[in-house]
Amino acid sequence: MSPLSITRTLPADATTAALRADVSQGLSRTPKQLPPKWFYDARGSELFEEITRLPDYYPTRAEREILLTRADQIAAATNARTLIELGSGSSDKTRHLIGALTGLHSYVPVDVSESALAAAGEALLADHPGLTVHALVADFQQGIELPDTPGPRLLAFLGGTLGNLVPEERAAFLRSVHALLSPGDALLLGTDLVKDEATLVAAYDDPQGVTAAFNKNVLHVINRELGGDFDPADFDHVALWNTEHEWIEMRLRARKELTVKIPDVDLAVTFDAGEELRTEVSAKFRKDGVRAELAAAGMELTNWWTDGAERFALSLSFRA
Ligand code: SAH
Ligand code: AVI
Repeated sequence: MSPLSITRTLPADATTAALRADVSQGLSRTPKQLPPKWFYDARGSELFEEITRLPDYYPTRAEREILLTRADQIAAATNARTLIELGSGSSDKTRHLIGALTGLHSYVPVDVSESALAAAGEALLADHPGLTVHALVADFQQGIELPDTPGPRLLAFLGGTLGNLVPEERAAFLRSVHALLSPGDALLLGTDLVKDEATLVAAYDDPQGVTAAFNKNVLHVINRELGGDFDPADFDHVALWNTEHEWIEMRLRARKELTVKIPDVDLAVTFDAGEELRTEVSAKFRKDGVRAELAAAGMELTNWWTDGAERFALSLSFRA
């Protein structure tokens, strides 16, 4: 068997059906909103990688710093033989972990972006020819079926992607993570931390306009997949800090009153001038909150590491 297999757990028509449902519900409600997973077609995945290199987008650099200093400790604490990664994207930071996990047998990256999985799998195998990579094209919120690989398992969820789920979604997601693990298996979780508003907003509103292009990419996805006639130039990128929920919200604000037709879902959507469509939340965390959310899902936090500037945290927890 080839050391790289890519399994599509959802057929392409099921993905389109899910997009249809999210678009027709999300654009018919007030306020309008869409789930962030639809950013990530091939172009969206590339734009996210560009974001990670922006001077103001600190989370990737901060998490890499922690992984570089703690990978050996994580390896010693988990002895993982299978590393599962949800929302793995380019798997770039994960390399530090893979290098430290000396007994690793299989790596199971899971992502909705097939293009990101294919590129990441090829690049990893070039450096680790002995590794087996079982990539899964799947929605980590829909429940996934893992290949039969040896334990102990370490499940990594990096980048702060947990923050892209609202609290009820996070609770359901963490319970599903618990169900994937056996006693003694571990979760390695990356969470961005609450900090001053200026630093947070700058990370989501770069002067280069890369985050704006990433935000508007969801309109291109709807146009291509559902025959929509969005003109992305009719919308402004908005990033704001919501102090009540302690999350960044990304929105698209209509520059004028307009109507968009989306024939594949039989929809004509009217935007008032200035009306906003919420495209993403990115929640920021505190240690006690992370510990409590993990405990509610049956996980016990054992380690909490931050970068030197205390912007981002990696936590290790075990299935109780
Ligand atoms: N973990 C990487 C990438 C973070 S970007 C890092 O830390 O840099 C978020 C990734 O999660 C993207 O690759 C995106 O395609 C994926 N993703 C977002 N929602 C998803 C979902 N519901 N199911 C599976 N993958 C998802
Ligand atoms: C993937 N996720 C953690 C990113 C974040 O920071 O919430 C996505 C992103 N959105 C705008 N910039 C980056």
